[in-house]
Amino acid sequence: MDQPNFAGDYDVLLDLVKSRASVRKLKPDPIPDDYVTQILEVGRWAMSGANGQPWDFIVVKNPDTKKALFRAYIEENNDFIYWMEQQREFKLRHPSFQMTHDEALQKHRNEVGWSAAPVLIVIVGDGRRQWATVQGAHTFGRDQSHLTDGLANTSMMMHLAAAALGLGSQHVTIHIQEPFKRILGVPDLLTFSLIMPVGYPAVPPKEGVRRPLEDMVHAERFDLSKYMSNREVIEYLYRLREKTVPVYSHSYAGRPPVPDKAEE
Ligand SMILES: Cc1cc2nc3c(=O)[nH]c(=O)nc-3n(C[C@H](O)[C@H](O)[C@H](O)COP(=O)(O)O)c2cc1C
Repeated sequence: MDQPNFAGDYDVLLDLVKSRASVRKLKPDPIPDDYVTQILEVGRWAMSGANGQPWDFIVVKNPDTKKALFRAYIEENNDFIYWMEQQREFKLRHPSFQMTHDEALQKHRNEVGWSAAPVLIVIVGDGRRQWATVQGAHTFGRDQSHLTDGLANTSMMMHLAAAALGLGSQHVTIHIQEPFKRILGVPDLLTFSLIMPVGYPAVPPKEGVRRPLEDMVHAERFDLSKYMSNREVIEYLYRLREKTVPVYSHSYAGRPPVPDKAEE
């Protein structure tokens, strides 16, 4: 096969990469089926450990199913996440959880969130397929990496494909998997990794926020002057939240901290 020459296309790629951003409010308008296929086709070509391709994609368009998934997200996933977040300093909590429990309940009761998106692409992973690689890959702390990294790669590819088609997309991490598996009939053995709502953006494009390149690049050896102390990591998180919070369309973070019942 002749090697295609993409020299000169770098700027197109960089523009696409920089213009892609998480879109957390999508129009309910349907999107063409071809677009979904085109997104999935790009996801199919993601890299994975030893080419194990540990992913499966479930395309959900049925409004009742989308609602059921979102209910499970609010009532099982986010309820747990909310209480976990109570353990953190208010400003360090995830922006979506910088609120009291009553406010959180109220907001989530009224919200339709990503259930309004025309299409949800659900990514599930089969951990057995990471056995395609050497067993040495499963050392302590890395035991699932060929599964989770593969799923992350395919989702990133699909987010870029969606952006290239003029669509918005979001990455919804699923922490408590079981209720979602039950709704979609996913076998227990699989990992229910994430839901990717896709549709036309209902919010204007926003600027991305990233650390400067020189902060993350090291020449030849790890440059310890770039290593963050514990204090610097905390300060970094505060700064990051300050920058990232306004871009969360549903953020409550601009408001003064409210003492929560759990904190009394
Ligand atoms: C592994 C991973 C998990 C994420 N989980 C969520 C999530 O659960 N909910 C959400 O709204 N965004 C989630 N995101 C999106 C990130 O918050 C987002 O990519 C980041 O803030 C950078 O913003 P951008 O995507 O607009 O460039 C996730 C992204 C990744 C890569």
